[in-house]
Amino acid sequence: MILHTIAEVREQVKKWKKEGLTVGLVPTMGALHAGHRSLIEKSVEKCDKTVVSVFVNPIQFCPGEDLDKYPRTLNEDNELCEKVGADIIFAPSPKEMYGEGHILSNDFLTYVIPPYFYVNKLCGKSRVGHFDGVCTVVNKLFNIVQPDFAFFGQKDAQQLIIIRKMVKDLNIPVEIIPCPIVREESGLALSSRNKYLNNEQKGYALALRKILFNIKACYDKGIKDIEALKETAYPYLNEHHNLEYLEFLDADTLDEKKSADDNTRVFIAVKIGDVRLIDNIML
Ligand code: PAF
Repeated sequence: MILHTIAEVREQVKKWKKEGLTVGLVPTMGALHAGHRSLIEKSVEKCDKTVVSVFVNPIQFCPGEDLDKYPRTLNEDNELCEKVGADIIFAPSPKEMYGEGHILSNDFLTYVIPPYFYVNKLCGKSRVGHFDGVCTVVNKLFNIVQPDFAFFGQKDAQQLIIIRKMVKDLNIPVEIIPCPIVREESGLALSSRNKYLNNEQKGYALALRKILFNIKACYDKGIKDIEALKETAYPYLNEHHNLEYLEFLDADTLDEKKSADDNTRVFIAVKIGDVRLIDNIML
């Protein structure tokens, strides 16, 4: 069932809560793929009722990013959700979420601003304001749906860590459930933005997982020196890759690691043509 208004969702969730049912939320921007499917499956398995939100959130896109061309496939998304057993798709308009005239600057809209320490690195460095937009919309979704559990993919690991921090700092009564990265057979991490890649670029995109898997293999063989581990990446990169970052950070706190250990997550972002891809791996 697709619902477009906050009032309808609230009414439905209120009924469920009265019956003592648990509610899972899977926040998405649509263009659902097998990665999202795994989140929805987890929620359906764990919770009595599952809400999937589908909302291309304008305030998390930076100027010049792909807000207008971001894939919008609500009918297919709905089919997938029904097949997997989700109870509601919440697909609001920007106007429903942000009001009449939706003036989205922080001169006019209340934002949730995550801490600078968590934001001033990795994707936050080039996507200024992105995580303000993410935290604001996720907080709104939590207030609207009031889920017991919310499911996020580890592909967007920085996002996941920032949302956990927000939930802790703001005492939001929801349990965040992290879900593993889902990959194509080739190893490419699934992302709605993979749709932008042509076949040739898809080949270049495999460098991300090759770099990460090779770093993990080197670490498992005993290499702990981060510079040495970073060096192993360069043979996989050519003129088609624009490496934005390759970072070794603490998996919980995003602190910089002096040397690699079992709680290190390796984060990579590479631009191929106009398409910016991210991936990560736990050592
Ligand atoms: O990961 C995403 O798809 C988005 O950032 C989220 C969490 C749905 C917020 O718009």
